[in-house]
Amino acid sequence: MIGSEPPTKIPAHVAIIMDGNGRWARRRALPRIMGHRQGVKTVKRIVTAARELGIGVLTLYAFSMENWRRPDEEVGALMGLLYDYLEGELDEMLGRNISFRAIGDLERLPERVRSKLYDTIDKTSENSGMILNLALSYGGRAEIARAARRLVEMCVSGAMRPDEIDEQAVAGCLDTADLPDPDLIIRTSGEMRLSNFLLFQAAYAEFYITDTLWPDFSRDELLRALHDYAGRERRFGLTSEQVYQKCIPKGS
Ligand code: FPP
Repeated sequence: MIGSEPPTKIPAHVAIIMDGNGRWARRRALPRIMGHRQGVKTVKRIVTAARELGIGVLTLYAFSMENWRRPDEEVGALMGLLYDYLEGELDEMLGRNISFRAIGDLERLPERVRSKLYDTIDKTSENSGMILNLALSYGGRAEIARAARRLVEMCVSGAMRPDEIDEQAVAGCLDTADLPDPDLIIRTSGEMRLSNFLLFQAAYAEFYITDTLWPDFSRDELLRALHDYAGRERRFGLTSEQVYQKCIPKGS
């Protein structure tokens, strides 16, 4: 039964597409930024819950490459919220042993935000309780293109041969190089798409989609997603029988 207890099988890496801030605000006849502000409160709630539940890596899709095309006012407000979040949550991250990371085209971020970002990464780098990874100015296709460029550069410089380029080599050049692939991707607000998020890494991720808008997403709903995940059989292209055989200890 799905209760308030966590399941025994917790995914190592949970990634969340936080969607629905705008709709949350519109339903209340509020400006969109109020939805984003409420969304930050949910971020804090879910980071705390993920840490307590023993999730190893939590990746949050906070700002996509495409989001740069939103009105300047909204982009500016989101950058301000990000800055305030980093400033306000540093002590919390240190206290909860959380290591902060960011993926994406970080060079596009305003200098003030970027240096706060690097400062937070630096100050939390020794923490080992959980990795909180924000996807910022992030696009999966752009990330793969950056990886391709790096691989070509290595080949041109003679550090690598083209025939050495395999899936592992590509993965090693992505922003997530030292992170496990996401086991579970949650998307709020009901849309059934990946929106350019972790395209390479999501190959075998399980999906959990909820109609709940991000500002209303709760610890209880995260638990529901984890229970749903725990009940699934991940076959990675194998048959059910093969997966079952792999679970039986040799010699028994
Ligand atoms: C999608 O909702 C959400 C975003 C584009 C931004 C997500 C940002 C936050 C949750 C707050 C900032 C985060 C941090 C970590 C400080 P939408 O605006 O596209 O919603 P809609 O589809 O209903 O319009």
